[in-house]
Amino acid sequence: MCSFKIQQWLLWRIVSASIDLRRLTTPQDLFEAAGEEFIRVATEAIAKRGRFTVALSGGSTPRNLYTLIAANASTTLPWAQMFFFWGDERHVPPNDPQSNYRMAYEALLSKVPIPAANIFRVPTENPDASVVAAAYQQTLQKFFDVRTGEFPRFDLILLGLGPDGHTASLFPETDALQEKSRLVVSNWVEKFKTSRITFTLPVLNAARCVAFLVSGTDKAAVLHEVLEGSAPAEKYPSKLVRPTDGKLIWFVDRAAASELSAAA
Ligand code: 6PG
Repeated sequence: MCSFKIQQWLLWRIVSASIDLRRLTTPQDLFEAAGEEFIRVATEAIAKRGRFTVALSGGSTPRNLYTLIAANASTTLPWAQMFFFWGDERHVPPNDPQSNYRMAYEALLSKVPIPAANIFRVPTENPDASVVAAAYQQTLQKFFDVRTGEFPRFDLILLGLGPDGHTASLFPETDALQEKSRLVVSNWVEKFKTSRITFTLPVLNAARCVAFLVSGTDKAAVLHEVLEGSAPAEKYPSKLVRPTDGKLIWFVDRAAASELSAAA
């Protein structure tokens, strides 16, 4: 009987075979490729279903993507049929420099003709993060018309990769990783001594398309572990993102991919 480690590695090789790994040379190439995919997925969703639903990621990496989409598609995409959400948010006011909403608003949403009613930010004003999470869950349930136990199916969810393997605000060995029924939870992150509001894994894995953006040498070791390593998934939550009936795309630049095997 092969060891648990080998079983895990074999399982991961099977899963990683289903991953669409897009290796780009420079960060700019990465953002251009991701921008084209964003426009392609949006156009297809609107053609098929009359609307495009997307959850944005935060952190620093996607800012240049948002800026590029605003520059290239402000007059070409049907923004009135596009609906924006956030996969996670810091528990700070919307005008705070740490706010993922503020970053995306400044880089993209303030520069395109999108109706304010199409922008669903996380209502972070309430001092109780669990109340914020419950309110955002209700917003998702209402918008996607899903009941308890059902999960919304986003057309696209953008994600980043933290140096510790976290994604959205699903940090290693935190309670949120175990969530099976709620859509949005507040997740206490000990190292930041704060709560984050985050989509749960069932929501990420219900999406039609999930796209990771990973840039820079500081992500090379963790990207290698997530895509080729055998460490337990709970220690690298990005490993737990496996859309059940959807695409999984990794946009990586050369620096981030520098520790990947050629075969990856
Ligand atoms: C956040 C993000 C988080 C981010 C990673 C990568 O709120 O911080 O949603 O999951 O994507 O931490 O962040 P960078 O792009 O800044 O490296």
